[in-house]
Amino acid sequence: MKYIGNKTRVIGFIEDSLKKSKIDYKGKKIIDLFAGTGSVSNFFLKNGATVYSCDNMLYSICEQYRVNYFNNEPSFAELSTILKDYSLEGVLNYLNNLKPIKGYFYDNYAPSGKFNRMYFSNSNAEKIDSIRNEISKWETFLPKEKYLFLLGILMCAADKVSNTSGTYGAYLKIWRSMALKEIILEKPEFVSKGKNIIELCDVADFVKNYKGIDIVYMDPPYNKRQYASNFHVLENIVVYDKQNLNGKTGLRDYKLQKSDYCIKSKVKSAFEKLVKSINSKYLVMSYSTEGLLSEQEIIEILNKKGETKIFRYDYRRFKTNSWTKGDTKLQELLFICKIFKYK
Ligand SMILES: C[S@@+](CC[C@H](N)C(=O)[O-])C[C@H]1O[C@@H](n2cnc3c(N)ncnc32)[C@H](O)[C@@H]1O
Repeated sequence: MKYIGNKTRVIGFIEDSLKKSKIDYKGKKIIDLFAGTGSVSNFFLKNGATVYSCDNMLYSICEQYRVNYFNNEPSFAELSTILKDYSLEGVLNYLNNLKPIKGYFYDNYAPSGKFNRMYFSNSNAEKIDSIRNEISKWETFLPKEKYLFLLGILMCAADKVSNTSGTYGAYLKIWRSMALKEIILEKPEFVSKGKNIIELCDVADFVKNYKGIDIVYMDPPYNKRQYASNFHVLENIVVYDKQNLNGKTGLRDYKLQKSDYCIKSKVKSAFEKLVKSINSKYLVMSYSTEGLLSEQEIIEILNKKGETKIFRYDYRRFKTNSWTKGDTKLQELLFICKIFKYK
């Protein structure tokens, strides 16, 4: 999934830095705050860890159920009265072949809908409508984890065929080729060898609940781009509360999901409070040299908590505009803090 701050490309760097610091993570108890796509949880789960993960967006929770929760393919015996073949393959086949309908997503996200938006082709928006409707009917039959897993599969399939350049700040005015392909629900890979406890929660509330943790990993947003407004379409698909959407781009109301970590005047005190409330052997944090908090500010706060080292990974970002041409240097930072007083 194309996601702002997705750590998939730097997992190797995180792994190396932990190894250089002689921190054992295999089979350990780990918290992944700000879990997003769950890519870092995924790495720890492949290594047999127990991972407690949280995010405040429901689409993130669904994505984590899709890729991280199950160690093996689940079956859907709970649907045996509705479906003859209730294997995962049978369920996805059934959903993929539902009759398309013109509903809420067609009205809001398709060019021939009420608002002429171009997030999805007409036919894909109709399929999203029929699949989302059907999954809703199953909510009472299915345990939460299977319900959210199916929503994760729908959301991921929709994301693949969305007519956007990655985020949903706006749709493209010309169809990209992927957006004209048919939406297909697909099985994920099942790679976890550990146990994942996933919660929809604010990090500040989540972290208070745990003791006896080996590593707290955190990957807060580092710039002003709020996730709630950049991924609102995915959130709308999984929440499905049929809100009236606002403006040309069809935004959901996201007042309650705004993150202090994306607000310059609030980020430092939010970060300081969070770090104070953490109780684990190690605190490991990803950030960028382009972030709202400076390296100096982070180090000052972490140094009060424990002995801190910084690891660096060079990124090159290509910029072209009339003022800057060519490469700009960017670094992905990993702070590793060995906490002084671990209770
Ligand atoms: C940089 S991204 C994490 C990326 C993730 N490590 C990955 O690889 O996909 C930051 C995440 O923090 C979440 N977030 C922001 N503020 C939050 C808060 N106060 N509580 C919980 N989650 C929050 C966002 O929804 C977003 O998914």
